[in-house]
Amino acid sequence: MNYRHAFHAGNFADILKHAAILMTLSALQARQPRLTVIDTHAGSGVYDLRGPAARKSNEAQAGVLRLMAGPAPAALEPLKRQVAALNEGGETVLYPGSPRLVTDALRPADRYVGFELQPDEHRRLRENLAGRRNLDMRLGDGFAEASARIPTDAGALLLIDPPFEKADDYGRIVETVAAALARSPAATALVWLPLKDLETFDAFLRDLEDAVEAPVLVAETRLRPLDDPMKMNGCAVVLLNPPAGLEAPLADVAAWVSGAGEGGAGRVWRID
Ligand SMILES: C[S@@+](CC[C@H](N)C(=O)[O-])C[C@H]1O[C@@H](n2cnc3c(N)ncnc32)[C@H](O)[C@@H]1O
Repeated sequence: MNYRHAFHAGNFADILKHAAILMTLSALQARQPRLTVIDTHAGSGVYDLRGPAARKSNEAQAGVLRLMAGPAPAALEPLKRQVAALNEGGETVLYPGSPRLVTDALRPADRYVGFELQPDEHRRLRENLAGRRNLDMRLGDGFAEASARIPTDAGALLLIDPPFEKADDYGRIVETVAAALARSPAATALVWLPLKDLETFDAFLRDLEDAVEAPVLVAETRLRPLDDPMKMNGCAVVLLNPPAGLEAPLADVAAWVSGAGEGGAGRVWRID
């Protein structure tokens, strides 16, 4: 596996994903006294935007650096606050990954379980989150191991964010969500996907609908028309069992993120 999230940290796709994670977490915490967050693909938790990988791709420019440089919708404020806190109010040189963002927002009764398959990323994750409580950072295959960890006696949020380097990632997402909701039907799942061409995304949604009976909320943002399937032309967040009230803030975020492209657009829609 070649994927290293350090090349992509803080890009436009991370902004949609991480804003969606924070608003979903907050909405679930408002109705659940105890919440377990299971992150199937954790990454290393904190990324250095001055490092060679981030500098080579320069992807943070259209994402977190744009976010921190000027006004943004209220729905992006929690992410802005966490980025500013990680950078101690100074220049934005560090970007928080999902493990850091989630564990910063946990209450004492909540728990985070993250899986990371690559030993060096897992080592960095342990270093970056050292000293935090209520968390379990596991070296292993999140697709294979996540559903067994879904609690049946507390609220659960399942995060799925694979690298999409392998063709079977789409199928494994569907299997993992189906197994998790079979174990805990009220659990919420949040899946991040790239938008390259429409048929791949539509086929994924059809397979998901066939495998799972749960309300679905989709937030997609496109930076440009989907006419070059070799490019990430946009991205989407798919929520199963979404908490109420996310449509408007997600639409604000999706529209703002699409402004990083020319002629882009954001859209939020439901499948009930
Ligand atoms: C897109 S990154 C995750 C970023 C992270 N979710 C965030 O938002 O900060 C995907 C990560 O999944 C890891 N990975 C790939 N296949 C995996 C698997 N089957 N189980 C767990 N981790 C995996 C990769 O090494 C990479 O670090």
